[in-house]
Amino acid sequence: MKKLVVALSLFAFCGTLATVVLAADEAKPKHTIKQVMKVTMKDGLCKKVAGGKASQEDKNKLLDAFVSLLENKPKKGDAASWNAKAGALVIAAAKVATGRKGAEAELKKAASCGACHKAHK
Ligand code: HEC
Repeated sequence: MKKLVVALSLFAFCGTLATVVLAADEAKPKHTIKQVMKVTMKDGLCKKVAGGKASQEDKNKLLDAFVSLLENKPKKGDAASWNAKAGALVIAAAKVATGRKGAEAELKKAASCGACHKAHK
């Protein structure tokens, strides 16, 4: 009987944990796509970082914004394409932020406005 109680409470605990994890997964992205576009693309943060002249703070800010971009779901286009395009931006920004060689060129390539807008805007 005691064993059953332990098993049951363990089961209940796991259920709670799963609920918490699921809730966290559905949390709202830190920034909307529009906010990310304004700060990174329209206001030129991405260009500045890709140009190799940005501070570490700017590089981190760009990475944070692109992580938010990936957390969003665009109104248009399929998820696999979005994950590939937004994911490429996150990876390139992370490489620049951690000082990898040649990462600026990768960032420039990932930030091609037209290709992504055609599929997802
Ligand atoms: C990884 C995909 C992606 C890339 C790359 C991208 N964009 Fe966007 N952009 C979007 C999506 C999706 C929207 C539509 C957002 C919406 O309507 O919610 C958007 C919207 C915009 C908007 C309108 C924002 C608003 O307030 O309505 C501007 C301006 C913009 N992008 C500029 C750029 C520029 C400039 C570049 C290239 C330097 C670029 N974007 C690259 C995905 C991308």
